[in-house]
Amino acid sequence: MTETLTATATVERASTPRRYLMCRPEHYTVSYEINPWMDVTRFTDRDLAVQQWETLYRTYLDWGHAVDLIDPIPGLPDMVYAANGATVVDGVVYSARFRYAERAPEGPAYEQWFADAGFTTRTAREINEGEGDILAVGDVLLAGYGFRTDRASHGELAELVGREVVSLELVNPHYYHLDTALAVLDSDASHPLVAYYPAAFSEESRTLLAAMYSDAIIATDRDADALGLNAVSDGRRVVLAPGAVDLAAELRARGFEPHAVDTSELLKGGGGAKCCTLEIRESR
Ligand code: ARG
Repeated sequence: MTETLTATATVERASTPRRYLMCRPEHYTVSYEINPWMDVTRFTDRDLAVQQWETLYRTYLDWGHAVDLIDPIPGLPDMVYAANGATVVDGVVYSARFRYAERAPEGPAYEQWFADAGFTTRTAREINEGEGDILAVGDVLLAGYGFRTDRASHGELAELVGREVVSLELVNPHYYHLDTALAVLDSDASHPLVAYYPAAFSEESRTLLAAMYSDAIIATDRDADALGLNAVSDGRRVVLAPGAVDLAAELRARGFEPHAVDTSELLKGGGGAKCCTLEIRESR
């Protein structure tokens, strides 16, 4: 009997306490277009964005996670997508350096927040959009490139934190950041688990992912369209978009607790729950 069970099916899912950084969307709007989800002619409802963001924020607090807040800056409507603000691994802050001028001031703003909070920060030489493209899974870091983050930053990061960085090439403009195409569900090095949307990756990267994570959850078109992979897991509970119904069912089957949080207003900027959430990893 037991031999027929896969390794992940036998894993007891456990939530671990997290520390996040978020930014209330007080200045949210879509005033430029830097990804295919953004359309400046479409009306955005700032109050609804704040309401949806508050629900996400309260969810983390209800679950006992610590959430720090960075002050939103007028004129930086995308600052709500805190995941892009930096990458924090083993207590080291690798600053973001944005591809587009519209978001450039966010890099120093987030770096300053971390410096003020007492962290050692490292200013990136290479273009990288923080946790949008850099995801910690177990002992390795998965790093996306193709649309935003330059591959050169992967080397810079590996040198800085002394971890293996695995480069993955993104090929579909709708999934322009790694965190729109791949979700880290379990980061425990003894049984790491991810979900991903194969069509977002080059053939070579798909082969690599299949070899690294043979038990991964493969997202459907429906999950990907809803930006369902932009999910946040604390090891057991997973926040994701309500439209990602196939992913939610698969998560349940694997022992996770999916929680739908509607972030439809923030999707107009091309982001979801994960984009709004920067994880502060103080220790390994
Ligand atoms: N409008 C933002 C941009 O295109 C959305 C960023 C979404 N963030 C993320 N972590 N994927 O840069």
